Amino acid sequence: MAAGDEPRTYGVLAGGGDAPGVNAAICGVGRRLMGAGHRLLGFRDGWRGLMFDDVVGIKWSMMQDLVTRGGCVLGVSSASPYRDVPDGVARVQEVVARHQLAGLIAIGGDGTLSSAARLHAETALPVVGVPKTIDNDLCGTDFTFGFWTAVERVSQAIDDLRTTAGSHHRVMVVECMGRHTGWITAYSGVAAAAEAILVPERHAELRQLCQRLEALRAAGSRSAVVAVAEGARVHLDGKVLSSRQRDEFGHFETGGVASLVASHIEQELSWEARPVVLGHLQRAGAPVAFDRIFALRLGARGANLALQGQFGRMAALRNGEIVDIPLAEAVASIRKLSDHFLDRYDNFFAADPRS
Ligand code: F6P
Repeated sequence: MAAGDEPRTYGVLAGGGDAPGVNAAICGVGRRLMGAGHRLLGFRDGWRGLMFDDVVGIKWSMMQDLVTRGGCVLGVSSASPYRDVPDGVARVQEVVARHQLAGLIAIGGDGTLSSAARLHAETALPVVGVPKTIDNDLCGTDFTFGFWTAVERVSQAIDDLRTTAGSHHRVMVVECMGRHTGWITAYSGVAAAAEAILVPERHAELRQLCQRLEALRAAGSRSAVVAVAEGARVHLDGKVLSSRQRDEFGHFETGGVASLVASHIEQELSWEARPVVLGHLQRAGAPVAFDRIFALRLGARGANLALQGQFGRMAALRNGEIVDIPLAEAVASIRKLSDHFLDRYDNFFAADPRS
């Protein structure tokens, strides 16, 4: 702290789905701010904690091994000041004033950070963002922390499932998280050599999938693994088989893809198939080393932005460097898998790409 600087009080919250690495990000925020002589308050369960003043003072001792731990010590929630209580925004302003917060670091995905961007734009809330989601679907950053841990979990699961698929000469259809994008499914599918990968970004036509599996069987394969995203839109001869239900944001309902695809494979190819939904295992447990360090660096950058009064911005990773970008840019839209990536790997595991 520069000479003459008075110790200031900052706040940190984590919202949305939890992700391995949230604790490391909190550690990055705390070490940077408290190392500079300031105080840090942790608001529990995302925006809910700020709306209801549910707060805990962060102590240096709490951060001892925080970088290694999964989950979130503060708790998370998808609460929003704009949705969950009629006077949510006023409550946030009141609590910020009560604690005389010099700044707030919001760790979250598109939901949490959209609230942060709006509060900054509409009420000048002194807030900065740190990108967190296993889905990797935030714009403006090469990756979000939690993603690589999820890819590690799914890749390992596919590797393991391949042993039982081989014993029983079966097709295992593995359903991955990612909401309306296929980042986890695609990266894990390629890493674990899945014979086919179905993602929301590409038309998932069952006829083509069965042709690919049949070609593999004809070439001698007696088992296979198909990686499917929970948000994949499954078609048969152009007819949509996936749910047509939409959520409050207009997105199609996700889930149920693995069982849909597995039962079709059994019917169409008379090849035993089993669905496996990995669910929250993709968000559970300790972060991989990359995410620990990545989240720590993002948290420290978020703290630096707050210290410098650069609010309305988000820490990000660009070409291997930690940078910062406008929060509004990060939440403007959902970042989907690129055609470049999909074109490069679409035919990656076909029996014979020349066929
Ligand atoms: O956004 C992260 C995520 O894990 C998605 O991939 C998944 O669809 C969703 O959260 C699950 O939400 P919940 O934990 O509320 O069931």
